[in-house]
Amino acid sequence: MGGFIEAELAPLKNTGQIRLHDAAAFAGMRRAGRVAAETLDALVDIVVPGVTTREIDDFVYSFGVERDALPATLFYRGYTKSCCTSINHVVCHGIPNDKPLREGDIVNVDVTFVVDGWHGDSSRMFPVGKTRRAAERLVGVTYEAMMRGIAAVKPGATTGDIGAAIQEFAEAERCSVVRDFCGHGIGRLFHDAPNILHYGQRGEGITLRPGMFFTVEPMINLGRPQVKILADGWTAVTRDRSLSAQFEHMIGVTETGHEIFTISPAGLHRPPYR
Ligand code: MF3
Ligand code: CO
Ligand code: CO
Repeated sequence: MGGFIEAELAPLKNTGQIRLHDAAAFAGMRRAGRVAAETLDALVDIVVPGVTTREIDDFVYSFGVERDALPATLFYRGYTKSCCTSINHVVCHGIPNDKPLREGDIVNVDVTFVVDGWHGDSSRMFPVGKTRRAAERLVGVTYEAMMRGIAAVKPGATTGDIGAAIQEFAEAERCSVVRDFCGHGIGRLFHDAPNILHYGQRGEGITLRPGMFFTVEPMINLGRPQVKILADGWTAVTRDRSLSAQFEHMIGVTETGHEIFTISPAGLHRPPYR
């Protein structure tokens, strides 16, 4: 456990060592991240009242395959869908099904593709038709929390700086940060070291170095932070059934700061999308 290693020399499994990637890897991650971001851009016209999450999942699968991108979640640890669709009080890992979305829902769609062996992982919130003010506020707070976490990323900063920036903002907005799921190292592996906690203390955790790749993907609740997993073994919901939101970007640490691999090419960063 621990330490840093040149990515090309490391075994292709999560050993706890943190990989430091080269310029070719940055190029690979840009391509993978772009497919994820383009998929989320295209979903703006798909996620409307009456559509089922299965239809969203089918769209994600086709959109990827047409671009030589395979959904990384397909058959990942027994998961059988191409994306996760987490509605209202679902925190994450909602499984697409045949239930239609209803006006006023908020849904997170989380997509991960493998492109030339590199993983592109990103998610956004989609309002379904007209949503309530509380939901709209939560979605805005969650996006801003993610971006404040990302703004802390530069060489010499720590993973605790990211978590602290997210937690301080979310809690000042009277929201809570989910503790049971975190961001993760990513690259040729889907889930790699280090864990990126979305709460914490400045100066704690691991010191960031150029070449590190990871996600920042805070889940923020309007109520209490506790979650439970439903009987399907995947769906995580808030224990108090309060609304939950999440955004996810995938980033690389550069010599001077960071690069976001999953920026929306269409400028559809956060709602309202039109
Ligand atoms: N994309 C999710 C993440 O951000 C992981 C989903 S794994 C699945 O890490 F199996 F639930 F799809
Ligand atoms: Co992720
Ligand atoms: Co994801």
